Amino acid sequence: MTKKVKPSGQKHLLQALERLHHKHGSCHEGEVATYIPELAKANPDHFGIAVAEVDGEVYEVGETSSEFTIQSISKAFLFGLAVETHGRDAVLKRIGVEPSGEAFNSLELRSSRKPFNPMINAGAITDTGMVTGRNSQEKIEKILALLSGAAGRDLRIDKAVYRSEKETGHRNRAIGYLLKNVDLIDGEVEEVLDLYFQQCSVLVSARDLAIMGATLANLGTNPVTGKEVLSFDSVRDVLSVMFTCGMYDFAGEWAFRVGIPAKSGVAGGIMAVINRQLGIGTYSPRLDSMGNSLRGIRVCTDLAEEMGLHVFNFTNVGSSFIKATFDQ
Ligand code: DON
Repeated sequence: MTKKVKPSGQKHLLQALERLHHKHGSCHEGEVATYIPELAKANPDHFGIAVAEVDGEVYEVGETSSEFTIQSISKAFLFGLAVETHGRDAVLKRIGVEPSGEAFNSLELRSSRKPFNPMINAGAITDTGMVTGRNSQEKIEKILALLSGAAGRDLRIDKAVYRSEKETGHRNRAIGYLLKNVDLIDGEVEEVLDLYFQQCSVLVSARDLAIMGATLANLGTNPVTGKEVLSFDSVRDVLSVMFTCGMYDFAGEWAFRVGIPAKSGVAGGIMAVINRQLGIGTYSPRLDSMGNSLRGIRVCTDLAEEMGLHVFNFTNVGSSFIKATFDQ
């Protein structure tokens, strides 16, 4: 008997998102980040979940258009930009792809005198130093164009968060000078750090993160605008390193339990990617001790479990859980 496909999965997905939003909205554990003073102003109860498919459909529940700063989620795209601009080998001469097992702002380098990976600050500051352009303005415009292309709308910088981080980011300054000391930053450290602080302060929403994730899931082409923002080769490198290193010192546990590439930021965002299928964007600024959004982790964990999203899941072989349900 022939199997037929019917598009009943959309309703199912939206219901699942509503249920998870309700379930995890009652979690009031975790703290808003305060080490960047401006981040402390976030409303701890804001909570949004969005899912974008590779055909451009977007499903949203809760505060999905509230803006917050992208923070470390930009690291995934900066790594893609570095690979795209300089080629993988040149980037890997400066940055490793090993999980560090350390906090995101660790001052440690590998024995080879390079950062462990591009998802922690040392690696991302090195990537930032590799952005090309005639001056700082051109470089930040290039970064903004990449992030905006992935989100499908013009993104802007939150100047207050940028200033706040620049004024208080002494640990990142220490990392910058450590990198300079081992010749991983060619230009002025302060200029590279300024660019790093700006890129962390780009405003996004949970909806944006879902579309940015779907752009990676869609091999680098934004599924809503149809615009290619990264090549397939760099997307593969980005997703590989997100899978092993994207969730700070929780990365191993995440890969084991949730099993999808993801990147989090200390303002409370998480972007997760189901290859060739969809992007997930969550926003809730209540963080755990490692700097990951607690509700975001729980939503992704439940979604992965319920929908069989883990990369090594064998109960959903070859089918898209959203678009296809089979009967007869
Ligand atoms: O460097 C910082 O402290 C922040 N701008 C970014 C922190 C963040 O999201 C965690 N990173 N891995």
